[in-house]
Amino acid sequence: MKRIQFHRYGGPAEMRLEEYQLPDLADDEIRVSVKAASINPVDWKIRQGAMKFMTGRKFPRAMGQDFSGVVEGIGRGVKRLKVGDEVFGSTPVKTSGSFAETLITKEALAVAKPAALTHEEAATLPVAATTAWIALVHKAQLKAGQSVFINGAYGAVGQSATQIAKAIGATVVGRVRAESMSAAKAIGADAVLDYRQSLPGNLMGTFDVVFDTHGSLPANDERRLAKRGGVILDISPSPTKMMRVVLSRSRHFVMGKQDEATLREVAGLASKGKLKLSVGRVVRLSEAIDLIRELEAGRRINGKGLIAIETA
Ligand SMILES: NC(=O)c1ccc[n+]([C@@H]2O[C@H](COP(=O)([O-])OP(=O)(O)OC[C@H]3O[C@@H](n4cnc5c(N)ncnc54)[C@H](OP(=O)(O)O)[C@@H]3O)[C@@H](O)[C@H]2O)c1
Repeated sequence: MKRIQFHRYGGPAEMRLEEYQLPDLADDEIRVSVKAASINPVDWKIRQGAMKFMTGRKFPRAMGQDFSGVVEGIGRGVKRLKVGDEVFGSTPVKTSGSFAETLITKEALAVAKPAALTHEEAATLPVAATTAWIALVHKAQLKAGQSVFINGAYGAVGQSATQIAKAIGATVVGRVRAESMSAAKAIGADAVLDYRQSLPGNLMGTFDVVFDTHGSLPANDERRLAKRGGVILDISPSPTKMMRVVLSRSRHFVMGKQDEATLREVAGLASKGKLKLSVGRVVRLSEAIDLIRELEAGRRINGKGLIAIETA
């Protein structure tokens, strides 16, 4: 079996497509034959060592979180899923391993793949869509009729947030690159701004929720955009923003969580056609290191990078 792994933390040159052997399953784990995996920025952040405090120092380390595939083995304590089930979900950050022919994850991090979705569609969702769900539904408690400002509205989390907010019945103003403005409107944004232009003064103080998915919206602009009592959400905060999160009850740092309940929520929306992320490129496992390297270097593909796994 092959997977993408690395033998020490570092840059893109550390990635290798290598043979590996999975350990025996723990009681709460499942083994999945991977059909599709999607690439997230966290995958290269983990490889760079940015999350060493969670990922430890045991090598080789596998790469990749998001997957869709078929269960081929279950631990003794697994009750909900069975061999042969089509599932999608994520791997624990500590072990990762979805850029692979076969992975091991916790049963709690996978749910049945909706029949209406292909493996590729399902694999786009876990990290991005659950993060947007937790931000808007759990942290901001967004309601119909409220307004949301989304910075980076055509990224993976931004597309998810835009569609989740629209499904709730909120109004969305998205900020994207000029070239993505019509695509952002097509997925539901009511109004779209170019992130290279300054923010219009008439928007200040008008949003119930300000969600910076990219991390580049200055803390003062977030505060000025929000209504009095509005909620500010960050998923990639600078140290300055993090300080403000600690000091303010209206600011939240949101961590995505691919648990069963949240995966079911995003699966439900996707099954109804209300949540679909654009796919920029699909490659085979043998080509995936090149694609990860390009995305990490800032190449734009206008959608998720996907790895389609062919099994012999
Ligand atoms: N805390 C968590 O649990 C969590 C979960 C998921 C993601 N994240 C983090 O959130 C970030 C976004 O993740 P993602 O998967 O959505 O990445 P992504 O798909 O690469 O999206 C990033 C978006 O930001 C846009 N962007 C670039 N420069 C911008 C600017 N100056 N102003 C506004 N938008 C700008 C990009 O647009 P163009 O490409 O058109 O320039 C792109 O659409 C990453 O840093 C990721 O690590 C955190």
